[in-house]
Amino acid sequence: MKVIEFESVFKGYDGKDILKDINFEIFKDERVVFFGPSGCGKTTILRLIAGFIPPDRGEIILNGRVVSKNGKVIVPPEDRNVGMVFQDLALWPHFSVRGNIELGLKAKGFSKTERKKKIREILSLVGLNGYENRSVNELSGGEKQRVALSRALVLNPEMLLMDEPLSSLDFELNERLREEIVKLQEKFGFTLIYVTHNREELSHIAKRVVYLKDGEIVEIEERG
Ligand SMILES: Nc1ncnc2c1ncn2[C@@H]1O[C@H](COP(=O)(O)OP(=O)(O)O)[C@@H](O)[C@H]1O
Ligand SMILES: [Mg+2]
Repeated sequence: MKVIEFESVFKGYDGKDILKDINFEIFKDERVVFFGPSGCGKTTILRLIAGFIPPDRGEIILNGRVVSKNGKVIVPPEDRNVGMVFQDLALWPHFSVRGNIELGLKAKGFSKTERKKKIREILSLVGLNGYENRSVNELSGGEKQRVALSRALVLNPEMLLMDEPLSSLDFELNERLREEIVKLQEKFGFTLIYVTHNREELSHIAKRVVYLKDGEIVEIEERG
């Protein structure tokens, strides 16, 4: 089943083409890596999938439904069931771990009891048992990363977009977390779209690779 389709997508800034005629399909529960040098348009593709920006031309289709088209976002980000983890994590520094994870659950209308239970379960799953009341400020880089991951996964997204989520971590932690991301994906069964310019992450995570250069797809490779 196709969950994401890009059809002849163009996107530019300030009159300059950034993405040029992008076409691809992503299937349910795949792990796809978008790989390419800095500035080639990887983050722009994720922002288009999430619905933060519209394509100038072309269509973006999620689950068979046109969600953005020709300069318009038709279905807004909050209605796309897409989770996101970014490089800078964007955690709320003055909130506790619980506070950070709880925001999305509140927005979705979960009761206090349900929220508590879900937060306990997800923290245990990412190896942060009992971290609810810790301040985000006092966590290590790897722990913050796990909080960001928990915040996205607790909403049980159909698709998870990850934008160079491990690039600020040292090699050992990077290696450990990339293994955990694969395990979580296998366990939860979401579609993972992962952006990186790191070859080790690529080899570990990808079942399929979309190679980008200067805003164009140069190759799509199956890795099984
Ligand atoms: N909001 C923006 N305004 C102007 N230029 C932008 C904006 N966002 C991205 N760009 C430009 O688009 C190109 C692709 O950016 P990006 O998608 O972030 O690449 P990547 O994530 O592969 O490094 C870069 O040249 C970047 O400077
Ligand atoms: Mg980027």
